Amino acid sequence: MIQTTINGELRQLENTRPDETVAEWLRSAGLTGTKIVCGAGTCGACTVLVDGVPMTSCLLPVHHIADRQVQTVEAFGPETLHPVQRALMAWDGLQCGFCTSGFVMSGIALYENWRRDHPGETSGREEVAAALSGNLCRCGAYPGIYEALQHACAGEFDSVTQVAAPRYEAIEKVTGRARYTVDQQYTDQLEGVFLRSVYPHAKVLSIDASQALALPGVFAFAELLENDRIVRYTGQEIGALAAVDVQTARSALHKIKVEYEVYPAVVGMQAAQTDGAPLVYPGFFRKPPTSAEGLTFPGRWQKNLRKGLLKPTAKSAGKAQRMINQARANHDPNLIERTFRNSTQVHTALEPHVCVAKWEDPQHLTVHLSTQGVHVGAHIIAEHFDLEDENVTLVAEHIGGGFGGKQGVSIEGIAAITLARLTEHPVRVFLNRLEELSYAGYRPGAEVHLSVLTNDEGQLQALSVTSYGDSGISIGSGVSFLLGASSPPDAPRNTDEIDVVSHTPPGTPFRGPNGPQALWALEQIIDETANHLGQNPIELRKRWYPEDELRHKLLDWAADLPVWQNREANRGDTRFKHGVGLSVGGWPLIYNGNTQVTVGVRESGVYVQNGTQDIGTGSRTLLATATAEGIGIAPDQIQVMVGSSNAPLGPVSGGSQAANSVYGPAYTAAQTLKIQLLALAQGELQLHEPTVTATGIQHAEGLLTWDDLTSQVGSLSVTEKRGPEASFMPLLDYLSRDEHAGSVGQAVSKAVTVTEVLVDTQLGKITPIGVWMGVAAGKIFTPVLARNQVYGGIVQGLGYALYEARQIDEKTGNHLTTNLDIYKIPGISDIPPIEVFFLEGGFEEIRGAGIGIGELSTIGVAASIGNAVFHATGWRPLNTPILPQDILMGVAQNPTDGGQL
Ligand code: FES
Repeated sequence: MIQTTINGELRQLENTRPDETVAEWLRSAGLTGTKIVCGAGTCGACTVLVDGVPMTSCLLPVHHIADRQVQTVEAFGPETLHPVQRALMAWDGLQCGFCTSGFVMSGIALYENWRRDHPGETSGREEVAAALSGNLCRCGAYPGIYEALQHACAGEFDSVTQVAAPRYEAIEKVTGRARYTVDQQYTDQLEGVFLRSVYPHAKVLSIDASQALALPGVFAFAELLENDRIVRYTGQEIGALAAVDVQTARSALHKIKVEYEVYPAVVGMQAAQTDGAPLVYPGFFRKPPTSAEGLTFPGRWQKNLRKGLLKPTAKSAGKAQRMINQARANHDPNLIERTFRNSTQVHTALEPHVCVAKWEDPQHLTVHLSTQGVHVGAHIIAEHFDLEDENVTLVAEHIGGGFGGKQGVSIEGIAAITLARLTEHPVRVFLNRLEELSYAGYRPGAEVHLSVLTNDEGQLQALSVTSYGDSGISIGSGVSFLLGASSPPDAPRNTDEIDVVSHTPPGTPFRGPNGPQALWALEQIIDETANHLGQNPIELRKRWYPEDELRHKLLDWAADLPVWQNREANRGDTRFKHGVGLSVGGWPLIYNGNTQVTVGVRESGVYVQNGTQDIGTGSRTLLATATAEGIGIAPDQIQVMVGSSNAPLGPVSGGSQAANSVYGPAYTAAQTLKIQLLALAQGELQLHEPTVTATGIQHAEGLLTWDDLTSQVGSLSVTEKRGPEASFMPLLDYLSRDEHAGSVGQAVSKAVTVTEVLVDTQLGKITPIGVWMGVAAGKIFTPVLARNQVYGGIVQGLGYALYEARQIDEKTGNHLTTNLDIYKIPGISDIPPIEVFFLEGGFEEIRGAGIGIGELSTIGVAASIGNAVFHATGWRPLNTPILPQDILMGVAQNPTDGGQL
């Protein structure tokens, strides 16, 4: 037995396993503020203080804390907030909050050391970066974390008692009280794990789980194969097994005998196109999954290639291609042709895909799911398990990041529900980090062949793009579609779209689907054209998009930035070279017109309810803000209810549709309710000079509390529907008439990204020096949170450009990027100062007058870095991530003083 002190309380730790870690024990004891993400000491989400020293508890054996003082985030509750927690709340140094406990604990250690050694001084960015370099935040809330820690270390939050937190649920997240799906624990809950294929291509002839089921603590096994029993990638789910705990379940997997008929396989896009490559989908009827967000357009198969039959964003495609072909035959110097390549990017949400399922009775189901869509998720589950929609309650109170990878219901949901039905116990199924990085989806890779023809003055004559999507067994990668949509609207353009399938896991939508790939090619070739013609890249962009007022305004803003104005003056020395690059991107209005928001009063006060969810993007804050503006009381006085399918229909948190979908109806419902309340007060209730307050109706004679009011007249509420906009593609809306599907409006938001980099030409290292982003998305509903979301988009864009690439062994199909020490995402020390400018207005014709910014803020970042590297070195990177060896080779072959701008 081990004796230790946890948060000041003497604890006896009994019956611990020899290999049990402190993180595992804490969580099993209900201290779920401590999170497990990588399980390998890389991400810091599990950080606790042991005798005041920050340690990663996922690596710490339980016996190590014998007779020690351990502090977890629960030691610093709402009544005993540490200055670091107050600062994180005030500076919004968080989004989804899944990493926040770890940052709080590492931050407290930094604060205590700093205050002891440097009383009265402010810490620099470098000290914060060094102290927090062991903590990762996938949402990219680093700028707020920097600010929070610097201000906390300066003592500014030592005696603050009331913190004005811009984020509605900040207190729950900084204290570790926010409950995520992975924290859900029923008393008789079992754990489910997946049995996965060991081959990239095979038929499963038989599965014998009898020996596994005979083991003590094992409850059930469920097959998860399609009817054809074919597996098409290594690691594909064959079945799932439930046991009393994860260790028992994983050991039992080894006792399951699977007989395979092994087929030839092809792994990777290049191999799939070689002569004689095995076919992923032989035969005529093919039903591949899709990585597209929305509709997948029809296509024609040729072996492992599927070419799109429609070109919705092309214009005079035949003419464009003929002009390009002619220019190529004539060796026209104004024809620029390049091939760009992008590796796959994995979402890497810190909370894994996880589901906890509980059957209340054979017809009623409660599901806790880490999802970006509680409403649509409940509907999918009801259809899959043949239930009525209203008999499925899907709950997602807090979600530890999604980024497009948790839309709908994934296999962990199906497995948990199936096992729960078989065992008659609640069952949790979660992916470990290897599974999360390998099988849970990714942004498809791409190979983009882009040709651009201009005249001598730089007027665009024709554009042609052929993109090959690397999306494993799925189709629908769609880069040419978006590149066509992003091109100058009047230019003749041909857009050929080809999916290449191979025996690797399917891709999924990822924040700004296809955007980073399309802009990586388009925005770099615009700069290359400017460079070729000796023209200013900003002026060239303006000429290519002459009617695009918002683009022009943002480009003017960028042109006035000192970093842009001085870009020629700071070209660096022979080894370290400075460069400044720019890109522009756009994202359409996406919204769900069926969204309904209810605002009402009940005994406890004013509430707003909607069946959306908050994945860290601030839905709670936005609903509170809209309601507060409509009814005239403070946002923190509004009770916000999201994260349940029992609420009125809400949008998914994807495609930047949530903010626009809920803001307008919430505001109007609140306004209407206020009018009704005042009419009631002045009419039936005969009150004089009534006003609506947080506690009730104030009137000339006193206060009628909400409790008194509802006891007199009952609860009151108003439900408002979002409604439709003029459609971008009416046919698209018609074809996707599912009430949960988003619609595309005619408005398009814009963003310009300017990046300054320092390129070490001896080591091949790129260091971002600063990022400036101008955003034109209309009304900014919650400015602090919006800024934070833009930060996150930029951080993920930096990762895309510089670090992130999933790796797979081409022979076995096994993933090589198995954890966060190998698959590198940006840490706090990788992040330069970021400046965000919101150009508001311009969207008054759409309801709410503002467009979501989640996608917009990430799609152009990599291209701006590519242009900055060219500006610095004269060598243009064509591939992401930009690898050191590519820089060294490229710079060696292009020994210039940098590209001209
Ligand atoms: Fe850091 Fe989401 S807030 S991972």
